[in-house]
Order: sequence, then structure tokens, then C-alpha cells
Amino acid sequence: MITIKNKVAIRKMEQAGALLSEVFVGVKDVISPGVTTLELDAWISEELRKRELVSKSKGYMGYKHVSCISVNDVVVHGVPDKTTVLAEGDLVKVDVCASWKGYCADMARSFFVGVALDNVKHFVDIAQKSLDAGISKARPGNKLSDISAAIQNVVEQHGFGVVRDFAGHGIGKKMHEAPEVLNYGKPGLGPVLRPGMTLALEPMITMGKYNVFITSDGWTVKTVDKSLAAHVEDTILITEKEPKILTRKNG
Ligand code: MF3
Ligand code: CO
Repeated sequence: MITIKNKVAIRKMEQAGALLSEVFVGVKDVISPGVTTLELDAWISEELRKRELVSKSKGYMGYKHVSCISVNDVVVHGVPDKTTVLAEGDLVKVDVCASWKGYCADMARSFFVGVALDNVKHFVDIAQKSLDAGISKARPGNKLSDISAAIQNVVEQHGFGVVRDFAGHGIGKKMHEAPEVLNYGKPGLGPVLRPGMTLALEPMITMGKYNVFITSDGWTVKTVDKSLAAHVEDTILITEKEPKILTRKNG
């Protein structure tokens, strides 16, 4: 069942989103050559604490960190560690889900370490554009898979791959709620979208083939062909009018 959030729930999710997007503003400056992904996770943990945001990943199925940090061919669920040292040119995806007074926001961005190559910038730009295209379909009366098809369209138009094995999701008190929001598929299918639904949309795209595998740590998701991957995620609220992006309050 897809829950419809009431005013109180929505206000809390808006605040969760605003605070979480504040944290991401600072992430940019922490990402630099020589920093380990574990140090970046520790920094995020402190920023969450300052804002009374509670991590939803820490403790989730035994996961020990407040963020997933996925470098280059790691698509999602990269586990922060002290041996992964960021280097000039790396493409770093940071994904954080946290709650404020019991309600969640989920957000991810793709960052470059230092100066990015033009083709990598373009690649991340397409990930972002695909997310925006998906969001633009999040309107009352549309069907869920209108979002999926819009994302897939943008990505494939530019010759990139859409990962099939992971998806966006409903969000609220829990990080993952119904429905699952695929990043590919035919339009016009699935439940009708209604005001008060809150979704986390998160295209995961690859420069090469879309096939991925989970490494022996049980978490890390990598591309099979070792191609670069990009990931961006926003938490949105469907309203009577324009969809409201809860995780873009701070740039
Ligand atoms: N934040 C992720 C998502 O976008 C889920 C992370 S699960 C974790 O859905 F436990 F690995 F962190
Ligand atoms: Co998510």
C-alpha cells in the first residue's frame, strides 16, 4: 500500500529534506584528494548529529555507516573504509538517508574529485537530467511507470545504461516503503499517482553496459564491465500542482 502523508508528516519530511540537503552543501568541500571514504562518512555523521538527523542506514541489515560512498565503477552501496583514498579525477557518489522526528529524507549526489573530464561531466549531467525528467512526471493522475519511462528515455537517448537491479522507492517513516520505482519500463503502468505520496527517485546509470554485481562484502555494487557509474537521488512530494523536491532546499 502506498501511504498518503498528512500535513504533520509532510512538514517533518520537508524539514528532514532541508537539513539533509544542507549537509550535502558541505560534502563538496570535504571531497578532495587524500581523504578516505571513512573520513568522509565520519564528517557526515557529525553533520547529521548537529542537525538532529538520525541515520537510517546505520544498523540497517547490519550496515555500520551513515552513508554509502561509491567511487568510479562502484554504482551504489559503497562501504566507507580507510583504505579507499580519494584521488584526483574520481567520480564519487554519496548517498545518505536520515530521519528528523521520525520522518526520512533520502538523497544522493555524484561529485568529482578535483577537475572532471568533459565526458564525465556530461555523464553526470545526464544522470541529473534523467532524475529531473522523472520528477516532472510525478503528478496526480499520471501512472507510476511514467516516471520510470521518462528516466530511461533520457539515459538511453544519450547512449548510457540504466541499472535494472536496484530502484527508487516510497519513503516516509521508513527509508523504504511501497512502491518500488523502477528506472526503466513502459509508461502508463502501475498505480495512479496522488497528492501526498512521497517518493525517493534515484537513477543509477552506467557509461557502458548496465549489468552489475554485488562484491564479496555483501554490499558494494559494481558494474560488470568496470565502466563508470553515476547516481543521484531526491526525495519528492506529489502535490496538486508541481512536485515538490524536498532535498533541494539548499542548492
Ligand atoms: N540510501 C539508500 C537508498 O537510496 C539505501 C542505503 S542502504 C544501506 O535507498 F544500508 F546500504 F545504506
Ligand atoms: Co533511496
